[in-house]
Amino acid sequence: MTETILFTRGVPPVEALPAVQIGQCMVAALESDGGVILQYGNIGGYPPLRRMLAEDFGVSEREVVVGNGSLHLQDLFAAITIEPGATVLVEQPSYDRAIKTFRRRGAKVLGIPLEDDGVNLELLEAELRRKVPAFLYLVPDFQNPAGISTSEAKRRALVGLAEEYGFWVIEDIPYRTLRYRGTDLPLLREISPKRVVTLSSYSKLISPALRVGYMIAPAEVVANVTRLAEETILSPVLPTQAAVAEFRRRGWLDANVVSLKQLYQPRLQAMVEAVKRHLPGVSFAEPEGGFFLSLTLPPEAHSANLVERAQQAGLILTEGKTFFADPLERQSSAAEGERFVRLPFCAVTPEQIEEGVRRLAALV
Ligand SMILES: Cc1ncc(COP(=O)(O)O)c(C=O)c1O
Repeated sequence: MTETILFTRGVPPVEALPAVQIGQCMVAALESDGGVILQYGNIGGYPPLRRMLAEDFGVSEREVVVGNGSLHLQDLFAAITIEPGATVLVEQPSYDRAIKTFRRRGAKVLGIPLEDDGVNLELLEAELRRKVPAFLYLVPDFQNPAGISTSEAKRRALVGLAEEYGFWVIEDIPYRTLRYRGTDLPLLREISPKRVVTLSSYSKLISPALRVGYMIAPAEVVANVTRLAEETILSPVLPTQAAVAEFRRRGWLDANVVSLKQLYQPRLQAMVEAVKRHLPGVSFAEPEGGFFLSLTLPPEAHSANLVERAQQAGLILTEGKTFFADPLERQSSAAEGERFVRLPFCAVTPEQIEEGVRRLAALV
C-alpha cells in the first residue's frame, strides 16, 4: 500500500520530543517547589522563568508574562486591543490561526502582500493613511507559512511606521532560534520597543504540549493581559513552566536546540532539492530556518481542487486559502490562495519529502 505523506503538520516530530529529560525536570521541580507550583497563583508566570526571560530580553519582570502557550497570550492581547470596527493588518499570507483569532475578536483582518524580504511597504503605508489598525501582526523570522524573513531595512521601517502612526506591532517569533544558516537579524524590539509586543514559546524548542509561551511588552500591556488572564484561566500551568525553568537551568535547552537543528537542517535541504528537481519552473524563497518552505504555483499550473486531488494521490496538504486574510482594495488574492502551497519539512523524513514533492509535481 502506498504510504500517505503528511505535508500538513507544522509540529515537531515525535523523535524531537525530549520526554525523559522533561520527566526529570518535572520531578525536580515538584520536589523543590511543589508547594508553589501545585497551588493557584503567580498569574504572570512562574517567577524564576519570568526572571530568566526578563534577563534574556533585557527588560524588567513587569514587562514579561508567561502563559499557556503564545496563541493564548496573542488572543488575550487581541481581546484588549480590538475595538468594534477595528482592523488588524497581517502579512499576506499569514499564520492561519492568528487570522482566525483576530476575526473572532471582531476585527476586519487585512493582508499586506508579503515579498521575499517582508511586507510591501508602499501598500502598507497606503493602508495606514486610509485607516490606522489596532495592530500589525508579523512573523518576521522564518514565517509561518511562507518561510521567509523580514529584512533589517524593513524591520526598521516597520518600527518607524508603528511609532509614526501609533499602532502596535506584534512580532511573533516561535521559530527564531531554529536558524540553520545565515545570521540573526535584529528583533523589532531591539530597534525600538515602544510599540512592539514580542510573542514566543517553548513549543518548537522543547514541546508544544507543555503550553509554555510568553509575551514581552510595555508594563501596562502586560498588566492588562495578566488581568484578563486571571479572569479567564485563574492560574497558568505552573508545573510545566517550572519544568521549563529547570530544563534551562540544567543547560538542556541549548543542547536540545543543537540537536533539533541537526535533525531539521537536512530536512530543509531535502525539501529545497526536491522542489528544485521536481518543480523546476516554480520560484520560491529559500528559508534559512524554521519549519516551512512555501510555493506559489504559476497561474498556468493545474491548481484547482489541489487538496482533494492530492489526497487521492496519498498526499495531505493544507488548503492554501486558509493562510489568506481579506485582500486590500484592488489586490485580488482569492486565486493566489488557491495557488499557494505550504510545505512543512520538520515532521517528515528526507525520503518522505522526496516522494511527497514528486507526487505534488505530478498533480500540477
Ligand atoms: C507563527 C506561530 N505563532 C504561534 C504559534 C502557536 O504557538 P504556541 O504553541 O506557543 O501557542 C504557532 C504554532 O504553530 C505559530 O506557527
